[in-house]
Amino acid sequence: ADVFTFDPGFTSTASCESTITYIDGDKGELLYRGYPIEQLAEQSHHLEVCYLLLYGELPTAAQLQDFENRVTRHTMVHEQMHNFFRGFRRDAHPMATMVGVVGAMSAFYHDSTDVNDPWHREVSAIRMIAKIPTIAAMAYKYSIGQPFVYPKNELSYSANFLRMCFAVPAEDYVVNPILEKAMDRIMMLHADHEQNASTSTVRLAGSSGANPFACIAAGIACLWGPAHGGANQACLEMLREIGTVDRIPEFIARAKDKNDPFRLMGFGHRVYKNFDPRAKVMKESADEVLNLLGIHDNETLKVAKELERIALEDPYFVEKKLYPNVDFYSGIILEAMGFPTSMFTPIFALSRAVGWIAQWKEMISDPAGKIGRPRQLYIGAAARDYTPVSAR
Ligand code: CMC
Repeated sequence: ADVFTFDPGFTSTASCESTITYIDGDKGELLYRGYPIEQLAEQSHHLEVCYLLLYGELPTAAQLQDFENRVTRHTMVHEQMHNFFRGFRRDAHPMATMVGVVGAMSAFYHDSTDVNDPWHREVSAIRMIAKIPTIAAMAYKYSIGQPFVYPKNELSYSANFLRMCFAVPAEDYVVNPILEKAMDRIMMLHADHEQNASTSTVRLAGSSGANPFACIAAGIACLWGPAHGGANQACLEMLREIGTVDRIPEFIARAKDKNDPFRLMGFGHRVYKNFDPRAKVMKESADEVLNLLGIHDNETLKVAKELERIALEDPYFVEKKLYPNVDFYSGIILEAMGFPTSMFTPIFALSRAVGWIAQWKEMISDPAGKIGRPRQLYIGAAARDYTPVSAR
């Protein structure tokens, strides 16, 4: 009989070889193509990081210019896609809309879905990176009943996204440079994270030869769950539910209670067991944004700060190595920017799009690639004979 390794949750199984992202969970180290995330967050910007993740090296000035031109040429979505949006209910969660619209990209851009053609792969990658902020912003505008805002290509990637979300007709909208930088950082810090659940989903879907838009729609669906990308929304909602600092002990007690399924959202990570390096950078960003916006006495923020302090000292959390993760701080920044919690996970999705597409390209270009086909340990009934219903 075949012998399999049983590894539920894939805690010790490498599903692929990759040259894109390196994580050392004990050291709290995250490298994109060898470059530390802290240096990139400080000195680079999201589109340069997209180039790095996609092509493996930092671009020269000319390469970067060319890449930016190629991306901005594709920021608009097909006008027919507006009709597609209008088919959704206004009160749909923007992630639900995004799963549908990104999946539908293969119906609109089928001239770039031949996965065996390197040029198609390249064009679909650029289209994905270019259009996903437009799609996320459209999902938001649709949900609040406002007209769609077309992309403005002379703006940076992050400023353009903010404008598409917050501009309204007949009013000038100037993007605050502090928010532009903070949004760009959120994008960079979420850009890739090796074989997490959604990326593994994209690779598994892609291993069958499915087109990249379909694969990324699958990744978005996976990201939505509260244990993964949905944690940023869940975290902020939890902070609001706690409401006031005096209620924190009650929630800490619930998190420790084995019979209570409640978890402190925004805490813990499968790989990082000392700290999440993204959380460190994000915390700095959160402090910066709140200071510059003059937000000091926000109750949610007070709860967040106190919860962080208690959890970092409490023996349960120390022993289980549960630290605030990236989602804990990103939610605070996004709220300060004026986003509703339902947009937090779509923003994670648009930031991660480049990681998904880089990983998909790497997988599809591997000549030794095989369809992903896990085995199982069957624990059901042994073979038995069918009995007619009259005899049961
Ligand atoms: N609150 C309270 N207890 C926790 C938490 C938490 N957030 N996370 C883990 N634990 C406990 C858990 O009960 C378990 O205890 P025991 O050993 O006594 O059974 C122990 O810690 C290990 O937990 P696990 O579920 O086996 O760990 P995992 O590696 O499978 O889960 C995780 C990792 C991120 C899913 C989990 O920590 C979690 O659910 N966190 C809250 C959701 C969250 O913030 N997710 C975002 C992760 S970062 C961004 C992303 O990747 O999308």
